[in-house]
Amino acid sequence: MTIGVKQPSIVLGVSGGIACYKAVELVRLLVKAGCSVQVIMTRSAMEFVTPLTFQTLSGHPVASETFNLTQESEIGHINLADSADLFVIAPATANIIGKIANGIADDLLTTVLMATQAPLLIAPAMNIHMYENPILQENLRKLRRVGYHLLEPAEGFLACGYEGKGRLPDPEKIAEEVQRLLKPKDLIGERFLITAGPNREPLDPVRYLSNRSSGKMGYALARAALRRGAAVALVTGPTALAAPAGARTTQVTTAAEMRAAVLKEFSTSTAVIMAAAVSDYRPVMRADKKIKHGKYPIELRLEPNPDILKELGAAKDGRLLIGFAAETEALTANAAKKLTEKNLDMIVANDVTQEGSGFDGDSNIATILDRTGATCALPLMSKDDLADRIFDHFLELKKPR
Ligand code: C5P
Repeated sequence: MTIGVKQPSIVLGVSGGIACYKAVELVRLLVKAGCSVQVIMTRSAMEFVTPLTFQTLSGHPVASETFNLTQESEIGHINLADSADLFVIAPATANIIGKIANGIADDLLTTVLMATQAPLLIAPAMNIHMYENPILQENLRKLRRVGYHLLEPAEGFLACGYEGKGRLPDPEKIAEEVQRLLKPKDLIGERFLITAGPNREPLDPVRYLSNRSSGKMGYALARAALRRGAAVALVTGPTALAAPAGARTTQVTTAAEMRAAVLKEFSTSTAVIMAAAVSDYRPVMRADKKIKHGKYPIELRLEPNPDILKELGAAKDGRLLIGFAAETEALTANAAKKLTEKNLDMIVANDVTQEGSGFDGDSNIATILDRTGATCALPLMSKDDLADRIFDHFLELKKPR
């Protein structure tokens, strides 16, 4: 979370399904992401997980009883309803969905829900036949119609022994949706083309030249842009990361493939962020068969790959172009040179020799340089936070002067 910004307040309603155990992990993730989490449990949820577990992880007393005088004086049901920036129900059982859809407020959770004006995110989880029940489906349609956000259940093995749709989505996915809903939608109308990850340049059918890029920065940028309301086309080299939900993702391997995919997406984009660690060189020859072990040294001849960003810089036509500069020396001087040479609007420079900066890790230490000559040295922060700082800077640069 960015320092100085009010801590978002989440009220998490937990209703009584076996997936309650996943709500425990969800609380941990939300607290880690900088949210204040207040849990309300239904009576049946307490049969699955104890309030103490949620209380310990959230750092707040758990509310469960409407007519408990201590809880009411310490927490207060209207207080709860008013305090929420976002209300989440995970897992949401068929019962609670039915109650919300029909305006029933017969316990603390449903009463607070009735009183809140916060946006509501509902994550249903139940047996596949319950999920397919036409009454449940009608209730879900009703909730959608009034503007509540619904997360589709995942498919897979269900605790009841059936296989199919009904699993609570992974806590990471719910936490990501929470973060998306909390963000101001200040990038609506932008269509970002974002590149991420390394390239692989094959030497023979089993070997390649590559670099240490993990893709984490580019994926963080894609997620941040989506949360803030932008459309995202992500062109990515091979990574171990899950494709960001909502992005149009194209997987590529070589720099030449990346160039082709980027040029395809370029015309419909309003801005481009090249976070990929594009291979500067590729082998001149690619052996058809595996190169055999031998006694003598072999020579590897490399030829330069096209500079994709430079090519875009020459054809940008009003689009904002953002590049990255991973440097091992003369950080700002080298980055400033690239900014001019590639006709960029912004460049994000990082000294990859510094601890906590650059490839593979979850954090980065970056300096943002822009076409106006401004230089902004940022402290060590997560790649997610850096992504938001880059978009903040992007919006500053777009402001009419
Ligand atoms: O010149 P250098 O490779 O350090 O420039 C880094 C920036 O240029 C990055 O944004 C990278 O994605 C982009 N790049 C490119 N095509 C290349 C090499 C780098 O688009 N062949």
